[in-house]
Amino acid sequence: MTDRYAVIGNPVGHSQSPQIHEAFARQTGQDLFYGRLLAPLDDFSDTALRFFAEGGAGLNVTVPFKHEAWRLVDARVGGAESAEAVNTIRREGTRLIGHNTDGTGLVADLERNLGIVIAGRRVLLMGAGGASHGVVQPLLERKPAALVIANRTPDKAEQLALRFAGPGRNLRACGYTALAGESFDLVVNATSAGLSGELPPLPDGLFTPGALAYDMMYGRLTAFLAFARARGAATADGLGMLVEQAAEAFLIWRGVRPQTAPVIAQLRAAV
Ligand code: ATR
Repeated sequence: MTDRYAVIGNPVGHSQSPQIHEAFARQTGQDLFYGRLLAPLDDFSDTALRFFAEGGAGLNVTVPFKHEAWRLVDARVGGAESAEAVNTIRREGTRLIGHNTDGTGLVADLERNLGIVIAGRRVLLMGAGGASHGVVQPLLERKPAALVIANRTPDKAEQLALRFAGPGRNLRACGYTALAGESFDLVVNATSAGLSGELPPLPDGLFTPGALAYDMMYGRLTAFLAFARARGAATADGLGMLVEQAAEAFLIWRGVRPQTAPVIAQLRAAV
């Protein structure tokens, strides 16, 4: 019987995940079906549990349900526990296992596709919402010289940083004005400011020579990427991360990691 997977979210109609996983399945010769599952905002758990009760093998979880998914699963693996967010669920018999592949997807895109070395570099993560939670631990594991989390509401950044603080970790949180006079080799935008064409108030001199500005949004030149470009930084959008986090989920479900480059190229041509 064909194994069934889906992306669950609200909204979910725009999700590229079905195309990505269908491409992975073709490429690796795997027999699976991957669909979209719209959950009512107040009924994530029942919708997800029904999918699994009817034989579903795995779910990707997108906005706004990643924290609810973290609460729902029977066990959390790897970075999912500390992220308090789950974006990939695998059914193991009657148990649901929660993973978070967002951070590994970001790091894979940075390292494999963009050739970035994180170790020893100064990294700024903008935003302390859902999109930031999954990426703090995998970034720290690469041992940057410093990881600074900046957020419009500094308290939220503080809380996020506190969760990951530990010996030997140069991790700090602040508001945007406190960034004045500092520069970074890698700046990752995990805010949703770009959705409304806005830009967090960033100081000039934020980028070191040769720095990369990375926006988790994809398919458009956000105000952040335009700001970075105008200041000489290299830029990248989040399309590679989207495909890499999907490849990590595919690996968890199917035991094989698909080639991502052809799928990134295919999506790039379409956006
Ligand atoms: P997501 O799951 O996409 O991260 P979220 O949890 O609502 O969504 O978080 C959105 C993030 O973008 C937050 O860090 C938010 O800052 P606040 O915590 O201060 O709200 C940030 N954000 C949204 N709009 C912004 C703007 N115009 N300028 C700066 N930061 C913004």
